[in-house]
Amino acid sequence: MHIILMGPPGAGKGTQAEKLAKEFALPHISTGEMFRNAVKEGTEMGKKAKEYMDKGGLVPDEIVVGIVKERLSKPDCTGGVLLDGFPRTLEQAEALDEVFEELKMKIDAAVSVDVEAEELINRLTGRRVCRNCGATYHMKFNPSKVRNICDHCSGELYQRSDDTIDTVKERLIIYNSQTLPIIEYYKRKGLFAGFDGSRPINEVFTDISAYLQKIQEK
Ligand code: AP5
Ligand code: MG
Ligand code: ZN
Repeated sequence: MHIILMGPPGAGKGTQAEKLAKEFALPHISTGEMFRNAVKEGTEMGKKAKEYMDKGGLVPDEIVVGIVKERLSKPDCTGGVLLDGFPRTLEQAEALDEVFEELKMKIDAAVSVDVEAEELINRLTGRRVCRNCGATYHMKFNPSKVRNICDHCSGELYQRSDDTIDTVKERLIIYNSQTLPIIEYYKRKGLFAGFDGSRPINEVFTDISAYLQKIQEK
């Protein structure tokens, strides 16, 4: 199964992707995570991406499409993938169609989790992420067992540099103007499925899983 996971910043794409990837044995490909790793490694691409990420803007399409294409060409993707946070513009959605055609793959579903803006701001400003394994927590809604320590790997938890209130507001504006239009794109192709992401993590997960299970059985 080749699945696209969409939704505004903080809707729970990463949280759901972590669980869905395990449930359906799919590689979890998050472009945001790829950029954060490149920043950590100090690569040229990372330096370039950071300029956009810290302002809450989008990294230019040609950079993003390049790294996704490279990643999708790896052998672990032939059986399926879970794309988290890509595509985010119409240009990226069109480029993805071309890449999939070249690689003889097809998109099975474009799943979106949606949450209203006020709640997104609460979620993002309270989020903590493991420096070592990338697992995501929330100080109030999904705390680690030991404060600031990852449950999975005992790594240190940190706050993402783009999770400040001003950057979060900018990311929401960018989502509404650049990314929302691709929902129509996938609706027209009959691939879109929207889920209410404002419910507890496990409820959202159960619904998306049941939906993907049906797609898989088709
Ligand atoms: P990216 O890392 O993808 O950030 P994002 O889209 O802004 O989304 P987030 O990761 O912030 O949120 P999420 O939906 O994954 O929520 P999470 O599960 O963590 O991208 C970062 C940047 O990279 C972009 O701004 C851009 O600059 C660049 N970039 C990436 N992809 C790009 C692309 N394709 N094109 C161009 N640029 C690109 O959950 C959030 C919090 O809420 C957590 O604390 C979690 O514990 C909590 N939570 C989750 N679900 C629930 C729930 N149901 N109830 C209560 N709390 C919950
Ligand atoms: Mg994420
Ligand atoms: Zn960890």
